[in-house]
Amino acid sequence: MSADTQKKAAALEALKVVTADVKIGLGTGTTANHFIIAAAEKVKREKLNTIFVPTSAASYALAQKHGLNLQNIEDNAFLDFTVDGADEIDPQFRMIKGGGGALHREKIVASSSRFVICICDESKKVETLGKFPLPVEVSKYGVNPTAWKIERLLHNQGFTNAKMRLRAQVDGKPFVTEGGNAIIDLQLGAIPDPDRLEASLKHLPGVIECGLFIGICGIVMMATENGVEEITRP
Ligand code: 5RP
Repeated sequence: MSADTQKKAAALEALKVVTADVKIGLGTGTTANHFIIAAAEKVKREKLNTIFVPTSAASYALAQKHGLNLQNIEDNAFLDFTVDGADEIDPQFRMIKGGGGALHREKIVASSSRFVICICDESKKVETLGKFPLPVEVSKYGVNPTAWKIERLLHNQGFTNAKMRLRAQVDGKPFVTEGGNAIIDLQLGAIPDPDRLEASLKHLPGVIECGLFIGICGIVMMATENGVEEITRP
């Protein structure tokens, strides 16, 4: 089964939360896209009044094209669910997110939700986070001094082989997030203490958000060769 088939299977499993009278945050990425399309079909078929809050312009555009009832986070401080993908997820349901650059909005929406459901294929499951480069959203103003502070922090925390890269678009220009910021991707290999790293990164002036999502995800719907496993955080 391909990774994309698994992503779709996980997305279809999450459809069970698409019911009447609930508000759902929509993640960003290829897995979230499967959920958006399938949710739109279900809403249409069952004539549901479900409200959806997208986390990016791309998710907004896709959801709008498929006719979902969209609202913004300003009018919905409390959501029932957020359904989103992940770049990596560990046994404590700690995640790396932001491969698509939407981490800041994804974290605001997810942390405003009663239940956060991670839908993913099994390639996202890891014992230790960090093989996937950790995205850190930083202010464009002072990007070099912020990068220097991040480098010093990593050195002080024992990341001796860390590499940092300012994310670029395909045309080579720096990637700009929807919030108008830059992203520095940290190639760390392994993150032995994600809680400590997240707290210390967020303490640095210039850091807007870090792609470590800790204590946010409560339910994982992970597709495997044998079907979709649903696991709830104890
Ligand atoms: C976007 C994200 C995505 O959830 C993450 O990159 C996974 O993407 P995909 O579903 O395409 O594998 O965090 O910012």
